[in-house]
Amino acid sequence: MAGDPMTHVMRCTQCGAEAVINMPQHRLKLCGDHLVAWTTKMAQKAIDRYELFTLEERILVAVSGGKDSLALWDILHRLGYASEGLYIHLGIDHEGYSDRSQDAAQRFADEHGLTLNVVNVQTVYGKSVIEAARRRRGGRTCSVCGLVKRHIMNRMAYEGGFAAIATGHNLDDEAAVLLMNTLHWDGHYLSRQAPLLPSIHPRLARKVKPLVLLYEREMAAYALVRQIDYVMQECPYAEGASSIFAKGILNQIERQSPGSKHQFYLGFLRARKGGLIASDASADLPSETCAQCGQPTMAGGLCAFCRLWEAAE
Ligand code: AMP
Ligand code: FES
Ligand code: ZN
Ligand code: ZN
Repeated sequence: MAGDPMTHVMRCTQCGAEAVINMPQHRLKLCGDHLVAWTTKMAQKAIDRYELFTLEERILVAVSGGKDSLALWDILHRLGYASEGLYIHLGIDHEGYSDRSQDAAQRFADEHGLTLNVVNVQTVYGKSVIEAARRRRGGRTCSVCGLVKRHIMNRMAYEGGFAAIATGHNLDDEAAVLLMNTLHWDGHYLSRQAPLLPSIHPRLARKVKPLVLLYEREMAAYALVRQIDYVMQECPYAEGASSIFAKGILNQIERQSPGSKHQFYLGFLRARKGGLIASDASADLPSETCAQCGQPTMAGGLCAFCRLWEAAE
């Protein structure tokens, strides 16, 4: 039974217990236990469908201290995948954002007997991401931050011998990026937007997104039911970001027509697989290695990260 008209209590479609979430796009209302089981099943489905990784491989889970990446780590651990976490301390001071995020990630690791690797950018590289962005004229904090995070993730995965780097991007994140890339008909980004980015160099682990079949609100509900203590505050630099605007638009469409986000993103993946979007992946093969850090790079000389760091001296 879908609902109880006398008490207005929402009932779980699968067991009739009180439901904690209504998912009209799947015609499902689920109780806490069934939500946890369903969410886990959807992550496993993505891992299998997109051939992200196997039980024999070691996975580096990039955890930000937010709900998605901690929930992802929780799911992978429960599914029996061998994983370690990576937290990158970016030096964002607003209301102690980076410190509080690190604490949340560390608490989760300790509670579950998992290993968290922490890289403090200021300590390891001499200045924080915020300083680097400030000193570099015209460098937007988010793009500088993205570059630094990618560099450190690649380095840690290589040094630790991990097969893949897993991030907590959910369906809402991917659909928002897709909307922006489509608005600009950005063929390069469209050809690279996928749940799996294969390794294109022995020093670059593949990148995987096991939560792409799950809505953001499903992840929030999962984190709540599993009592994951995460940082709710968004990065202060994300305010006004185009992805937040795109998420708002997509949510409006979703309210009118449940399942639209799902259709939009999965339809894109199917079209991409069917060859509708030409792949220019071969153009991206790095041919050189950075003279300073040894990471692969397209141009000779220094990689983008080392160039950024030098420019910000
Ligand atoms: P964002 O770009 O902030 O939406 O984050 C996307 C994903 O990147 C998260 O789900 C995490 O997996 C990863 N991530 C973001 N920030 C960090 C961080 N400071 N340290 C490690 N991983 C991160
Ligand atoms: Fe990097 Fe916000 S997390 S700028
Ligand atoms: Zn149930
Ligand atoms: Zn370099």
